Amino acid sequence: MTPSTREPIAVIGTGYVGLVTAAGFASLGNDVWCVDIDAAKIARLEAGEVPIYEPGLPELIAANRERLHFSTELAPALERARLLFVAVGTPPTVSGDADLAAVHAVVDAMPPSDRHALVMKSTVPAGTGASIKRVLAERGKSGFRYVSCPEFLKEGSAVADFLNPDRVVVGDEDDWAGDAVVELYAPLGAPLVRTDIASAEMIKLAANAFLATKISFINEIAIVCEETGADVLEVARGMGLDARIGPKFLQAGIGFGGSCFPKDVNALKKLAANTGYHFQLLTSVLEVNELQKRRVVNKLERHLGTLAGKEVALLGLAFKPNTDDMREATSLVLAARLQADGARVRAYDPVAEAEAAKLMSNVTFHASAVEALDGADAVVLVTEWPEFADLDWSDIARRMRGNVVIDGRNFLDPAALRAVGLDYEGIGHG
Ligand SMILES: NC(=O)c1ccc[n+]([C@@H]2O[C@H](COP(=O)([O-])OP(=O)(O)OC[C@H]3O[C@@H](n4cnc5c(N)ncnc54)[C@H](O)[C@@H]3O)[C@@H](O)[C@H]2O)c1
Repeated sequence: MTPSTREPIAVIGTGYVGLVTAAGFASLGNDVWCVDIDAAKIARLEAGEVPIYEPGLPELIAANRERLHFSTELAPALERARLLFVAVGTPPTVSGDADLAAVHAVVDAMPPSDRHALVMKSTVPAGTGASIKRVLAERGKSGFRYVSCPEFLKEGSAVADFLNPDRVVVGDEDDWAGDAVVELYAPLGAPLVRTDIASAEMIKLAANAFLATKISFINEIAIVCEETGADVLEVARGMGLDARIGPKFLQAGIGFGGSCFPKDVNALKKLAANTGYHFQLLTSVLEVNELQKRRVVNKLERHLGTLAGKEVALLGLAFKPNTDDMREATSLVLAARLQADGARVRAYDPVAEAEAAKLMSNVTFHASAVEALDGADAVVLVTEWPEFADLDWSDIARRMRGNVVIDGRNFLDPAALRAVGLDYEGIGHG
């Protein structure tokens, strides 16, 4: 590996965003000092292990291992890097506001400096940058620069998203730190939105809220399709070809989950409420999403009658394919609802079982989809892992005790399943 001539940087927080950002910049030639308070995680990273499942990430880290440095200490990072990317978690509080405790812990740990800048990758409410700058100034650290650089990567394709972003957003005060962040991203050749800090913060929240709105919209259309004999797949295709609408995020299903959409929509709603505004549209987006998860239980009841004593298999548990992330996964709500109605829940996920087992109780986990379906009365496809496209449904039909298949992602071939005697129902087919 040739020695780097690019700017060394630091990344604080080595979760999904931090680790991908660190490996991505290392692949562009930057030396990256990674810091995390989780000593076990840092030990695993130092040992060459990758603590999360993200396609392509282990390879990217391995290929750039010499440029990646892992520590629980901030000092080595502060010594070498001017730009300190912050990628710590901002989970929801009980009130639904963003919990900024980890962000503030990072701010508190900063020494007075005229040569450093915090570059905020964590998703924070608009106004956070201004309040952090105020705090820094009150503590005699006004020399510290601040840049908002929100992250838009998607788990499951995070490496590709880092290397080929739709845009890079840099919110700053037209200072050296903003220039340095722009230069850092320049090799990616992505469209740049350079703006003020509050607008950059708002772009991230508004983008996620809009995508979530699109999902809840098509899910409501799906319900009306079921009542009127229309097919939501045809409707979405016809809508999506309109360049003003576009085909993405128009897949009807059993609702969105994950570590971002539910919390960011809630955080934007609460941000508005804190200014005295009731963001009515987002209230509906969240409510539709919750109901959508529960509608699957109604579908099962229509096919099976009572769920008491029934064996229901969940195929896929992670909140989306190609990740082991179980935060706010629809499967959690579904399993709990099914159990409350007396069903026995069995499950299979290609990679998320370990995370799921921490969050689910009384669920039997199986080593394969076929094993999970053997003897089941009904199956719900919750997460569209690619391997589920290759299942041998005639074999499965023989193994199942019942014949009900609820396809929560409209992923399977209805005709093929019906041909082998299965009672198939998707989402939004009238
Ligand atoms: N996951 C995504 O797909 C995604 C996409 C875009 C934006 N975001 C945002 O990025 C941020 C990080 O998300 P994530 O999914 O990577 O979170 P994560 O929970 O996977 O990782 C956060 C990491 O920060 C570490 N940490 C916490 N406090 C720390 C401190 N004081 N010093 C050093 N490390 C500390 C934790 O130990 C953990 O390893 C969040 O604000 C999230 O909303 C996430």
